[in-house]
This record gives sequence, C-alpha cells and structure tokens, in this order.
Amino acid sequence: METIIAVNQLCKSYLSGGQSLRVLDHIDLQVRRGDFISLMGPSGSGKSTFLNIIGTMDAPDSGEIVIAGQNVTRMPETQLALFRQKHIGFVFQFHYLLPEFTIEENVAMPLMIGGTRRPEALKTAREILDYLGVADRGHHYPAEISGGEKQRAVVGRALINRPDILLADEPTGNLDKKSGQRMLELFKKIQKDFSQTFFLVTHDEHIAAIADINYQLDNGKLSKII
Ligand SMILES: Nc1ncnc2c1ncn2[C@@H]1O[C@H](COP(=O)(O)OP(=O)(O)O)[C@@H](O)[C@H]1O
Ligand SMILES: [Mg+2]
Repeated sequence: METIIAVNQLCKSYLSGGQSLRVLDHIDLQVRRGDFISLMGPSGSGKSTFLNIIGTMDAPDSGEIVIAGQNVTRMPETQLALFRQKHIGFVFQFHYLLPEFTIEENVAMPLMIGGTRRPEALKTAREILDYLGVADRGHHYPAEISGGEKQRAVVGRALINRPDILLADEPTGNLDKKSGQRMLELFKKIQKDFSQTFFLVTHDEHIAAIADINYQLDNGKLSKII
C-alpha cells in the first residue's frame, strides 16, 4: 500500500520558563493508506503538536513531512490552505459547528468554500448525513441536536472533500460512553468502506483496541505499542 504520511527526523521545541523544551525529538513515521493509527501519551507530551504538524496547521523546526506524495514542509501558507482543503479532514473535540447554519449547511460548507454550487453541495451533505445515520437532522441547527449527533456532523464535514487523511484530537473526549462507542464503530466502518486513513490522538483505550497500529509519544520520542 501507498505511503500516505511520511515524517522524517521531525523536531519541534517550545520555550518554557526560559528553557527550550523539545516536544518532538527526531521523529520518524510512515503511515500507509487505509491504516487506522492511534497516538497515545501523557498529557503535555506533544500529541496535539504532532497532530497539528501532520495536519499542516503548525510547522516543525526541522525535519520533513510528506503527505500524499507532496512535501509540505516549506509550502507557503496560501498553497497549504488549498492543500489542507483537498487532502486533510479534521475532527477536533472542540471543532464547533457554526451555530447560525443548519447541520446540512455546516457539512456542505467545505464544498461551497471550494466553489461547489449550493444545491449540489447540500445534496452531497445529505448523502453523507444519511451514511452517518443522521439524515433526519439535516435541517436542524447545532443547538437542537445531541452531542453524539453533532460529532457525526463534524465527521461529515471532515469527510465531504474526501480527504486522504482524517485527523482527530480526542474525538470521543466529550462524549458519553455509549456515543463514544458508536463513534468508534462509525470510524471503523468509514475505514473499511472508503479505505480511509485515520490518525487519532486519544486517551481512550477503546480506540487503541480498534486501531491497526498504536503509537506512544513520550519524552520527545515515538514508539510503537505492541
Ligand atoms: N504554542 C505553544 N507555545 C509554548 N509551548 C507550547 C505551545 N504549544 C504547546 N506547548 C507545550 O508543548 C508541550 C506539548 O503540548 P501538546 O502538544 O498540547 O501536548 P499534548 O497534546 O500531548 O497534551 C506542553 O508542555 C505545552 O505546554
Ligand atoms: Mg492535546
């Protein structure tokens, strides 16, 4: 299978109390298309930093990152914005839906931003909401639906551009146990149906249990959990 994420000797440090803290210390990682990857590690170990760099939201101090065959390490921001739109889907715990738009409109938003006409974008959004089991929520506003339904809509919005990678930071973090479990089943189904690559940061043992490969980040180093 094709390599979809290639990370080479990645380093990232932050200044903390006058000292340099190396959060990512010469990290290498290769992810194949269709893999379901989990990333665990203590709080403050740099998981979100790593995820944001893979998502091209943040830049490393040194090292290289290649996504879907394109070296994004030194890509200018205008180009990166387009790249993200096309290749990366984000599901963050606090990635809120826009309250003044319906669920359908929220899910269709990335397509409309990309230039797809509204009726066509809304039609695609409805198809995705149907696939996600929340077809009947399309005309509701975010405030009118449950947390689990909102998270499904966020997943729909992340998927609508058919991204190469789906990134999520603690996707089940603010869901109750049952909704969290259903979300994971949905992720597994999406992986299977679309050969979708997942890269998930989590503390949730259930996610680790369903992932193909589990990584741990600690003291700047990445290791496989076996
Ligand atoms: N923008 C920033 N400026 C300074 N320090 C930061 C910044 N972002 C993160 N850090 C620090 O880097 C470390 C890793 O943060 P983070 O990636 O959020 O960890 P995790 O997601 O594993 O909890 C933490 O010590 C945090 O305080
Ligand atoms: Mg974090």
